[in-house]
Amino acid sequence: MLFRQLFDSESSTYTYLIGDEASRQAVLIDPVLEQVERDLRLVDELGLVLTHVLDTHVHADHVTASGALRERTKCQVVAGAGGAECADLQVRHGDTVRVGACTFQVLATPGHTDDSVSYLLGERVFTGDALMVRGNGRTDFQNGDAGQLYDSITRVLFQLPDATLVYPAHDYHGHLATSIGEEKRHNPRLAGKTREEFIAVMAALNLPRPRKIDLAVPANRACGRLQPPES
Ligand code: FE2
Repeated sequence: MLFRQLFDSESSTYTYLIGDEASRQAVLIDPVLEQVERDLRLVDELGLVLTHVLDTHVHADHVTASGALRERTKCQVVAGAGGAECADLQVRHGDTVRVGACTFQVLATPGHTDDSVSYLLGERVFTGDALMVRGNGRTDFQNGDAGQLYDSITRVLFQLPDATLVYPAHDYHGHLATSIGEEKRHNPRLAGKTREEFIAVMAALNLPRPRKIDLAVPANRACGRLQPPES
């Protein structure tokens, strides 16, 4: 299996390229619109054919490249049910997505947004903004719910083997990845914290509104097609 972690420095977004060496089929997870040329070049250089884009949720901080990549490659866009209406495949907990010999298992992990899903591929899990390195996504917009996120992390993600590698959609502190066991022990919002304590921490964050939210959310529901401004 080919695996590459890519970074968009403007939005601090990680995009992942996974390719199946036998069939040459490939998937991009959470691609960013501004990085379409970079990502397609890498797909091409590795001798792969892009067959799927998997989005972990409707992002608020950047515009997805899913629609642009679908136009260029005829790939299928996969997203969590209730999120991007434009997706070819809206997936739910327990669904699987096959890309060559790679089977991605869909885990519903709502709470950051209500459409958030994680994709489990063997010993790796792509968690979007549900679980990040020593952190987690905010829960104060897009039907976010701190209690629901605590349940998604503790009842779904923390049930995976401790050695499972966690690949988030973002990092702002220089980390690339983590593991389930590491986050159980060292995530400051979760290690030894009750559901009530986690909800209190999330309620007290007082984060600024994402700069691109008014543009990104409607665009991402349409697979990245930018909406004309309302007159
Ligand atoms: Fe997000």
